[in-house]
Amino acid sequence: MKRINVALLGATGAVGEEFLNILVERNFPYANLKLLASPRSAGKKMVVGGKECIVEAVTPDSFNDVDLAFFSAGGSVSLEYAPHAVRAGAVVIDNTSAYRMEPNVPLVVPEVNPEDIRRHKGIIANPNCSTIIMVTALKPLYDAARIKRIVVSTYQAVSGAGAKGMEELKDQVKAYVAGEEITARYLPSAGAEKHYQIAFNLLPQIDSFSDMGYTKEEWKMVKETQKMLHDPEIRITATTIRVPVFRSHSESINIEQERKVTADEARAILRKAPGIVVQDDPTRQEYPMPLFTADTDPVYVGRIREDNSCENGLNLWVVGDQIRKGAALNSIQIAEYMLANQLL
Ligand SMILES: NC(=O)c1ccc[n+]([C@@H]2O[C@H](COP(=O)([O-])OP(=O)(O)OC[C@H]3O[C@@H](n4cnc5c(N)ncnc54)[C@H](OP(=O)(O)O)[C@@H]3O)[C@@H](O)[C@H]2O)c1
Repeated sequence: MKRINVALLGATGAVGEEFLNILVERNFPYANLKLLASPRSAGKKMVVGGKECIVEAVTPDSFNDVDLAFFSAGGSVSLEYAPHAVRAGAVVIDNTSAYRMEPNVPLVVPEVNPEDIRRHKGIIANPNCSTIIMVTALKPLYDAARIKRIVVSTYQAVSGAGAKGMEELKDQVKAYVAGEEITARYLPSAGAEKHYQIAFNLLPQIDSFSDMGYTKEEWKMVKETQKMLHDPEIRITATTIRVPVFRSHSESINIEQERKVTADEARAILRKAPGIVVQDDPTRQEYPMPLFTADTDPVYVGRIREDNSCENGLNLWVVGDQIRKGAALNSIQIAEYMLANQLL
């Protein structure tokens, strides 16, 4: 297979490190791999596939001789450097929210809308992690009987807020066990006016507040899903919650479809679908849990039930590792699709 020059911006972050693991695991065909971050990490040594690599501080010239650049260093960094990367001739797969709703930028989950990749003009966006996990599970049901309405509540792991989110939960649990005072410095987000304890608590705020009292995270789930399904009519309402779990997001999803899909039919459809594992046997207490789905690739679906309160409704419990399928793995799958279809 053709070998390409790859850059990873945000290499030292929670998602960046997972990118490196997955590139090695999947034997991604890179010739050179350039690790980029902020000046804080310049000179840091990281081992990739047994080889030591030195992290460089990103500059506008970092993308000369790069064919493919994965961006995962926050929205403002993408807005600053993606135009330089595209001008240098690289394709950017952006894991931040910077370009997701731009009409000229395809927003892609390979199991959902891979054909959109072909429309790219240099940048392809990776959706929000909670959205990826939800649409991967719902697309096969959407194809079977369209979905008219989605009501989703999320239970999102602290690693969704990056390496600092994980540190905060660890520090607070240690302080609690040691009988020390618990301090909250970071969550619900660095930029928030107030910070609240996450250990032994739930935070009903992810990202900042926006229109109609919804958070930006909640609106991302609505708008990104409509964009990827090419269905602006689908009605979606979301409530996103941070929970004291280290890794893997969980989602309680209720859907209303155009015709009745029974729970058995839904299980059969989902069992055949790519990227999904059905884990659903109440008689044996089998259902997905974030502790056991962390560090794995699939999106797991369980607790599939017909909604007793309306005609064509289903309830599902969906869990997936948001750093793998919700971020790094999805970006790498986009790149693999491009390579397999001579688009790179
Ligand atoms: N965590 C998740 O579950 C998840 C899921 C989907 C999408 N995302 C998105 O992925 C991106 C990264 O998230 P993360 O969780 O990996 O965050 P993180 O752990 O805080 O890591 C941030 C990374 O960005 C780099 N960075 C920060 N400011 C920079 C700058 N000015 N110039 C260059 N590099 C800079 C950091 O480098 P230094 O080490 O030098 O500071 C680090 O490598 C975010 O946009 C996030 O919204 C995260």
